[in-house]
Amino acid sequence: MPVRAWFPTYIYSEPLVASATSLTRLNTEIAAECRQLRDFDAAGRKWSAKNYPGGYTSYASMNELHRFSSTFAGLEKKLTRHVRAFARTLDMDLRGRAIRLTDLWVNIMPPTAAHSLHLHPLSFISGTYYVVTPRGCPGLKFEDPRLSKFMAAPPKLPGARRANQAHITYPAEAGHVLLFESWLRHEVAANRTAEERISVSFNFNWS
Ligand code: NI
Repeated sequence: MPVRAWFPTYIYSEPLVASATSLTRLNTEIAAECRQLRDFDAAGRKWSAKNYPGGYTSYASMNELHRFSSTFAGLEKKLTRHVRAFARTLDMDLRGRAIRLTDLWVNIMPPTAAHSLHLHPLSFISGTYYVVTPRGCPGLKFEDPRLSKFMAAPPKLPGARRANQAHITYPAEAGHVLLFESWLRHEVAANRTAEERISVSFNFNWS
């Protein structure tokens, strides 16, 4: 084959832990805490009304949940193992420094809520952990980071290989961790199911 692909964009997807029973138990506990948080966090509800229409996020109000809750501190421990593995796959030289979870926040998307295209500044690896994912709820849609450079490139064929397409959507699957480099833009389409979709998002830094 005379042509080889270079400069890949990596996305990591794995169950948080191997045991399905543990995941179910953990997600019941996390979901209850997410809903309690929404009831308690008036500042977050106010911010969400303006910036996250129809939904609730603690992104701007309570984004260090791992420091205040044993449930989220436990989640931090498990996520850190996945992020280390991902950084190894990326051949990152962390210069002996520790990787550190800096922000962790809750997202509750009731029917119709959506999350428009964004990236995660001030971190190197970001991700989402799925807690409640009603059947048919939207996944996480990533955009080819070179999209703005395509200029006069023709569109892709309908049957183009997935790796050659401009977008890839990972289904939201309760118990799964998705990791990506923080500069990679992504969005969540509107929740068209009749139930709430709950996830926890986070940023990691190395320092
Ligand atoms: Ni995001």
